[in-house]
Amino acid sequence: MRIAIYPGSFDPVNTGHLDVIRRAARIFDKLYVAVMVNVDKKTAFSCEERVEMLRKVVSGFENVEVVSDDGLLAGFAAKLGAGTIVKGIRNSGDFETEHQMAIINSSLNRELDTVLLPADSRYMHVSSTAVRAVAAVGGDLTGLVPDEILPEVKEKLYRQGQNKK
Ligand code: PNS
Repeated sequence: MRIAIYPGSFDPVNTGHLDVIRRAARIFDKLYVAVMVNVDKKTAFSCEERVEMLRKVVSGFENVEVVSDDGLLAGFAAKLGAGTIVKGIRNSGDFETEHQMAIINSSLNRELDTVLLPADSRYMHVSSTAVRAVAAVGGDLTGLVPDEILPEVKEKLYRQGQNKK
């Protein structure tokens, strides 16, 4: 059985993430979507909220499971029996970052390989940073986050944006 893990901050899950999940779920028998800690990022949503939103948007995929961990990705992948890390890349900046991460993760766990999926042209501009920036000024998030979670993302991020004023 081919088991993969798609790790990220998912703060919040966006339509580009969902497209990567859809494609990876076709390639692998089982896909774990893992909410992990990125030490370089302070998140707008709690871990529980991010997991909850992901569960809502992947509920239609039989072979996708949402999990979370605050440790090392290489160790968590081994614990889940995943031999492949999946990441989406939009541009050469993403490639540089993910290439470095792939090397580190393989050096920590020799059994682990990384597959990079290029973003579909419809999602090349989509990022969670863009979602937060648009929401902070009350902009329209349609098409940037999956429809099922639009109300809760708007509610929380609009409120945070107003608090800053
Ligand atoms: O969505 P992101 O922020 O690009 O995802 C980055 C993430 C969470 C996958 C990365 O920071 C990570 O793997 N964190 C877990 C801790 C870890 O293993 N760090 C070393 C990997 S270089």
